[in-house]
Amino acid sequence: RRPPRSTLFPYTTLFRSVAAASALREGGHKGKIILVNEEACTPYERPPLSKEMLTVPDAGLKLIRRPEWYAENDIDLLSSTRVLSIDADRKIARLADGDQKAIVYDKLMFATGARPRRLSDFGDDVIYLRTHNDSLALRNRLVEVENVVVIGGGVIGLEVASSARSLGKHVTVMDTADRLMGRVLAPCISSLLQTLHETHGTEILFGAGQLTREGDSILLENGRRFQADLIVAGIGVLPNDELARQAGCRIDNGIVVDQCGRTSVQDIYAAGDVAALHHPAYDRMMRIETWQHASRHGGHVGRTMMGFDDGYRQIPWFWTDQFGVNLQMAGSADGADQTVWRGGPECGTAFHFAGTRLIGVTTINNGRDMRPAIQLIESGWRGDCRELVDESIALPKLIKQILRTMQR
Ligand code: APR
Repeated sequence: RRPPRSTLFPYTTLFRSVAAASALREGGHKGKIILVNEEACTPYERPPLSKEMLTVPDAGLKLIRRPEWYAENDIDLLSSTRVLSIDADRKIARLADGDQKAIVYDKLMFATGARPRRLSDFGDDVIYLRTHNDSLALRNRLVEVENVVVIGGGVIGLEVASSARSLGKHVTVMDTADRLMGRVLAPCISSLLQTLHETHGTEILFGAGQLTREGDSILLENGRRFQADLIVAGIGVLPNDELARQAGCRIDNGIVVDQCGRTSVQDIYAAGDVAALHHPAYDRMMRIETWQHASRHGGHVGRTMMGFDDGYRQIPWFWTDQFGVNLQMAGSADGADQTVWRGGPECGTAFHFAGTRLIGVTTINNGRDMRPAIQLIESGWRGDCRELVDESIALPKLIKQILRTMQR
């Protein structure tokens, strides 16, 4: 195969493109690689932005790769610029620089990520957390304020709430739903998280309904008023798929890709949280918004751009740290009708079943169970949930036995 002349990774989302660029170079791609990065700084990790960046005064950026790595690997990192338009027929991408520089590509990957959904009529001083600059702005504001209102009890809202409480702030979390992190967690785990936050003094309001901003306060429909010196909103994200739509790619809650990350347009790929893919383990379309997926999918699609065509099968997995508790979740709890525990909710592993099929696993302060548990989910194992509860056998050994029996 003739190597591609250039491979372009358009603007905004860093991690995915870095993973793909690494995979291309590691796979022996000799052609040009251009990585377009809307932000000014060298690509960095996002998980610390809602954690230590907020609580450790001089915490700096955690870079994905050293700044020199890009030149060492012959990767052109174009920072502080974005792709304005794409002509998919002529394979030209135009940059938003003054002279609208044109880049001719052979293959192109959208790793444009997602952006925070915004509250309407809440003003410009609400903080949404996605970038390093957002995190710095939040850190500076946290120093000055007493009462923090967090809108949204998802992963961002709760990590911010935990960080703000650890700085001694008065924190209220408001969510329209009736439980925490409902998009990803099983209801029983949401309850544990609620107890954790309430025990640490966070007030949580569910079914918040229509919220109104009035100066430094937030008014609930029932007339209750909350002092809000600072408002942080984490109410979900929207995929940055507009440029792909303009390029002719099929869009359906993200850029639709196949098992190899190919979009509906020849030689255009997409990876990470902007990509909507059919997941074989769950037999449905998913747009996965986790750090692990950004890395794994970016790398996978980088390899398929070079001609490998194995399908993507990674089970979604994420972690969060709140009040010193490490919670990890793999797979999905959607459709689970039973949960069994190994150990307890202080330090243990919960297995989520849909009928006899293991579909998801949550660990609490027990991340070591995660890898074997993911293997079991990947295998599509169906069985008696009680088999997993026997703590006289270490989980890796138990799962090895189950997998061996399955292969017979
Ligand atoms: N008012 C209050 N709460 C709302 C509103 C609203 N208008 N709209 C949505 N919510 C709540 C939802 O019920 C949910 O609990 O906001 C929460 C959003 O949670 P997530 O979907 O987890 O989104 P968020 O926390 O913003 O995280 C954004 O960052 O790290 C990544 O994986 C993470 O992709 C996710 C992204």
